[in-house]
Amino acid sequence: MRAPTAIRILYVCLLIIGLAIILHILLLYINKPISTPLASASLALFIGTLLLTIDLAYRNIKAARQARDELRHVKTRSEEVERQLVSVEHDYKNIFDKNPMPMWIFDLESLRFLTVNHAAIEHYGYTQDEFLAMTIQNLRNREESERLQMFMSGQRSALNSAGLWKHRKKNGTVIDVEIVSHELLWEGKKARLVMAADVTERARAQQQIFELNQTLENKVEERTAQLGAINRELESFSYSVSHDLRAPLRGIDGFSQAVMEDYAQLLDEKGKRYLSRIRSATQRMGHLIDDLLSLSKISKSAVHRTHVNASEIAEELVAELRERSPSRTITVEIEQGLQMYADPGLLKIVLQNLLENAWKFTSKTESPVVTIKKVAMDGQDVLAVSDNGAGFDMQYAHKLFGAFQRLHAATEYEGTGIGLATVQRIIHMHGGEIWAESSVGQGATFYFSVGEDH
Ligand SMILES: Nc1ncnc2c1ncn2[C@@H]1O[C@H](COP(=O)(O)OP(=O)(O)OP(=O)(O)O)[C@@H](O)[C@H]1O
Ligand SMILES: [Mg+2]
Repeated sequence: MRAPTAIRILYVCLLIIGLAIILHILLLYINKPISTPLASASLALFIGTLLLTIDLAYRNIKAARQARDELRHVKTRSEEVERQLVSVEHDYKNIFDKNPMPMWIFDLESLRFLTVNHAAIEHYGYTQDEFLAMTIQNLRNREESERLQMFMSGQRSALNSAGLWKHRKKNGTVIDVEIVSHELLWEGKKARLVMAADVTERARAQQQIFELNQTLENKVEERTAQLGAINRELESFSYSVSHDLRAPLRGIDGFSQAVMEDYAQLLDEKGKRYLSRIRSATQRMGHLIDDLLSLSKISKSAVHRTHVNASEIAEELVAELRERSPSRTITVEIEQGLQMYADPGLLKIVLQNLLENAWKFTSKTESPVVTIKKVAMDGQDVLAVSDNGAGFDMQYAHKLFGAFQRLHAATEYEGTGIGLATVQRIIHMHGGEIWAESSVGQGATFYFSVGEDH
């Protein structure tokens, strides 16, 4: 901008100088003496113009120097940028060429390989030239080739995880690869950059795991069937044994009673005491057998689930218990609307046993309280039956649900120890869980779930 303006001013100055010279020559020519003021004016004009010209020339030189420096600076900068560009390009090429994962770029239209990296050459066994003479279809067998065509004709996003494919190497080996690709422009063509991770080993391991699982499942099924058969055998055995034991027991009890009634006068007090002990022992054994029978009957019954209101069942049971022991004052708190998806008859047996236990083990407690409510545990709703009775030592908790296992002496709290075994069996038949928490003298809480809760 500055240079053309300066040149223009320079022209004007030169013009003025020229005019002043012409005027001098003209005056000299017509031999007219130059008047002093005119001579002084033209001299002043001449000197002024000369000075202006010098100044302009100086400024121009300075501007030219500045422009030259700027040009030099721009040149250095552009050389630097060019160097950086070359280095970045080199880095990117390295990332592609030396990447341990096989990579290539192919033309989206012709599907021809446009470039491949070292890992691809090494992994697939083709040379660079062989690759560049092939299309990506040459890596597939027929089924995969059709799948590829369908895949290519479908809509894909720019960055695309194409999933698992089978590729054929030059030596014929088929490998499993996981493909991730990205669309780009390559030498003006629409192309796709592909990264192929060989997952053959992983796929083989997964297949092995799958097969092992399958065998394991088959084995579990087989064992479960065997166990089921053994269980059924055991149950029918215990059922028939219990059943068959009843008759002789009844005989012992009946004949003991007959001796007591008909021959009482022949017996002294000791004899009578022995006989009554025989009778109470046989009666106790009768109870045990009855319990065993009912336990094995429960195992035989099928589970028919419906939506049940556990609160209503519990209330009925509590009313019965209150009737059976009218002298006892027990505070019972039952949460309303406790819905469960369970077999109503079996659920009643569960609640009955738990409530009977709560009743029994609070018999020596001053102000007995029994509660039934729903609690959330590990994201699951479970029912909790609690009391503030005798409680038990948690170190024996694992025995609670075994048949005939008792943590309290029969002299303290009567019972045969079959109730919780029955309860656990019912819960397991539902696919649920039961467990307890307690400490001696602090009461006990029994938690249970019934499996599916819909
Ligand atoms: N609420 C409870 N508080 C303290 N201990 C309990 C409670 N419930 C069960 N137990 C302990 O677990 C044992 C087993 O209980 P389970 O109901 O199987 O037998 P039982 O009540 O003794 O006899 P049964 O139920 O056959 O009449 C009990 O003897 C007792 O020691
Ligand atoms: Mg019981």
